[in-house]
Amino acid sequence: RRLLADGGRPAVAQTCAGAPGGPAPLPIGLVAELTYRCPLRCGYCSNPVQIDPVRDELTTGEWRTVLDQARELGVLQVHFSGGEPVLRPDLADLVAHARTLGMYTNLITSGVGLSHGRLDRLGAAGIDHVQLSVQHADTPAADAIAGLRAHERKIAAAGLIRRADLPLTINVVLHAANVDRLADIAAFAADLGADRLELAHTQYYGWGLRNRAALMPTADQVRRAGVAAAGVHERYGHEMEIVYVEPDHFTGRPKPCMNGWGARQLAVTPTGVVLPCLAAQQLPGPPAPTVRRQRLADIWYRSELFERYRGTAWMPSPCRDCELRELDFGGCRCQAFQLTGDAAATDPACSLSPHHGLLEPATRTPMIPRRYA
Ligand code: SF4
Ligand code: FES
Repeated sequence: RRLLADGGRPAVAQTCAGAPGGPAPLPIGLVAELTYRCPLRCGYCSNPVQIDPVRDELTTGEWRTVLDQARELGVLQVHFSGGEPVLRPDLADLVAHARTLGMYTNLITSGVGLSHGRLDRLGAAGIDHVQLSVQHADTPAADAIAGLRAHERKIAAAGLIRRADLPLTINVVLHAANVDRLADIAAFAADLGADRLELAHTQYYGWGLRNRAALMPTADQVRRAGVAAAGVHERYGHEMEIVYVEPDHFTGRPKPCMNGWGARQLAVTPTGVVLPCLAAQQLPGPPAPTVRRQRLADIWYRSELFERYRGTAWMPSPCRDCELRELDFGGCRCQAFQLTGDAAATDPACSLSPHHGLLEPATRTPMIPRRYA
């Protein structure tokens, strides 16, 4: 099973030679957010707090052009995401198109609506890998978090994915209402036959920030989760790959968001807006570029938005002189903006940030889950 693009199919070499605009790196991944529509109502949703109307979604033809231009730009991996991408009836057509261009295709789904017929069509189109979101190991708790009776349908979807012999990653967003059950969640993922389990703490911007009081675990919960994650590695590490993403609000270390701004990935929203990360639409500045008016290569190499925080020259102190600046890129621009009002500020998740104290009220007080109680 191929879990990553193996270099066998791409027809275009990954090289900076001839790149317009000079030293900008080539993008590897495209996050294709096919739709913001979704039957679930998770409190940590990555959809924008304000979303564009459904009627403005890119057409099948426009998405095919996006894929063509992404491949010309050097993109090797396409992550079909949302919202719930299965709600797009043209999903299999787009997967097939990406495959004909030589790209590795990944589907990120809740599993709701992933019927036997849909999965057959996706398999025939050549989907390479499926990431299935799971909210909890127990049905009532999982359904409460999702805001929908979805858990049993996810179990059924996992069975279909396994029977189709497709690589399966189980994604779990961790928060106050499920983090104490990490070991049970890992056992559940192993029972589903996962090849990979991703346990990632909630990111607190957009909906996550709005629901932070309900979602934020206590420091004790985070400590126990770290111990449980080590146990899970020991117990299941030989049968599935396990990734545990720590909560940056507690570690004092910011995450290397997107592996650097405009460095490795780009995202295209359902209406064609092109962003360096899924949350960047909220940042102040000129309107974000769109595939309806510009080619992807122009946007990647020449747009003000992609240039704004590329590299390290934009960094303020203390990042500017920090030896970790090439490793974490100063953290997350969107989190910096949401917490300080300045997207160029050092991410407050960093213990060296002058704004680090802004995290304290959120992390020192034991939070009582409101929405999920
Ligand atoms: Fe990273 Fe900046 Fe903090 Fe250094 S000061 S660790 S570069 S966020
Ligand atoms: Fe936008 Fe981190 S989510 S830079």
